[in-house]
Amino acid sequence: MLSHGGNAFDAAVAISAALAVVEPQSSGVGGGGFYLLHFAKGGRDTFVDGREAAPAAASRDMYLDGDGHPIPGASTSGPRSAAIPGEPAAWAWLASHYGRLPLTTSLAPAIRIAREGFPLYERMRVGLQWKQATLAKSPTAARVFLRDGAVPDDGTVIRQPELAATLELIARNPQGFYAGEFAQRLVAEVRAGGGIWADDDLRSYKIVERAPLTGSYRGAHIVSAPPPSSGGVVLLDALNILSGYDLSAASGVLRRHLLIEAMRHSYRDRAEYLGDPDFVSIPVDVLTSTVYAAGQRESIRPDRATPSTLLRPVVDAGGEGATTTHFSVLDHDGNRVAGTISVNLFFGSAWVAPSSGIILNDTMDDFSAAAGVPNAFQLIGASANSIAPRKRPLSSMTPTFVDNSRGLLIIGSPGGSTIISMVLEGTLAWLDGANAKAIVSQGRIHHQYLPDVVRYEPGALSAEELAALKAMGHTLSEGRTWGNMQVVTWDYASGQVEAASDPRGVGAGLVY
Ligand code: DON
Repeated sequence: MLSHGGNAFDAAVAISAALAVVEPQSSGVGGGGFYLLHFAKGGRDTFVDGREAAPAAASRDMYLDGDGHPIPGASTSGPRSAAIPGEPAAWAWLASHYGRLPLTTSLAPAIRIAREGFPLYERMRVGLQWKQATLAKSPTAARVFLRDGAVPDDGTVIRQPELAATLELIARNPQGFYAGEFAQRLVAEVRAGGGIWADDDLRSYKIVERAPLTGSYRGAHIVSAPPPSSGGVVLLDALNILSGYDLSAASGVLRRHLLIEAMRHSYRDRAEYLGDPDFVSIPVDVLTSTVYAAGQRESIRPDRATPSTLLRPVVDAGGEGATTTHFSVLDHDGNRVAGTISVNLFFGSAWVAPSSGIILNDTMDDFSAAAGVPNAFQLIGASANSIAPRKRPLSSMTPTFVDNSRGLLIIGSPGGSTIISMVLEGTLAWLDGANAKAIVSQGRIHHQYLPDVVRYEPGALSAEELAALKAMGHTLSEGRTWGNMQVVTWDYASGQVEAASDPRGVGAGLVY
């Protein structure tokens, strides 16, 4: 798109649409996402919230049984787990407000690949294996993704003719996705499959343009995702907590310890306060203020882990980075996009609308089904993130820009709850002088308040660090690797632009 006269915003649309086709386990027309934008002219930033919204018939206890216990799988499979998609509306908004190219141009590659097909690859095959049983129940899904009910071998050509037609409709008339014959048929199919969508849910869906959150850390200007993402709040609070320490002078162990404690405190507040800002009032200014962070720092000991149970419990006043996907774009004018888009878990609800080939999300699982009940990412929440009609589930997706005298970092990743800690660690690495490749490659650690465990990737902590952190009272657990981070960096002094794709995942960084 850039070489066809388009800008970063056109590229963002084309990338999103292509990912909907070749990475359907991660994001797509049936999902939603966030686009953080920067306009070189005027220097303005904005945030396009294309997050899915709960249908009007959704209700607080819809995934609980009569005794108030969560029904296993209810919020993660089948059309009842799907919220109203936002991606098509976001593409239309980006194209008509900020792009230079028509959707018929930016969606053309996606349409072609959907129709002609692409070879199945390992990561997608693993996703198919995970959701095989559910996909097999959907005739269109079974025909497109399975062969005689079985997961095909790598290299098998995957063609999605229904999805190609749906993308063509969006290219010609994006409103047609949300109203009219196509939309009515989609709603009828969802209802026939047991879902609760209504025509008006699609018709009334709107993207919301919101002011990004901004903050500073060690002279860098941070621009990140506002609610209904928790990313910006948690990232800025963690950086504010860390700003009280001289990390460069700290030993490796102390640095790790302080990072873990900053994560613990900032993720705790996510659980209590954060949700859809159009439904709940969130003290964003307090949570992102340096004064508040100074208070949090008071309870952090340099030599001991703080058990999460000692932090004020999250009370309810009112009652792997394998899926999801991220891309970063910088064009030659300096326009930027950090986009994180998702259908939530692998293949979302794994339910495919028969006639349109759309995989519906299971983003309803990002709500808190009941106070203190963990979701698929073991995140807990309070009434701020309870289910309500038309409300948007709280997200961890954290598309972010970091600007300092050195240059620019565009960063983000999939990975559910670990997204925010990854962006935090990536930001710190950039400020310490790491290049794009080192940022995406470095070992990761993660703490999210509850469970009170430090997860770490194999090799991310040395034997000495593990022993020292354990002696301080941390519980440590080695996990598999996570995330699929995609970054662009721009060094202002040399003018050099680098793009790097996480070695753990599938992706590519291109500079031209
Ligand atoms: O919005 C969120 O926070 C989640 N739906 C993101 C899911 C995700 O990153 C899955 N990746 N492993």
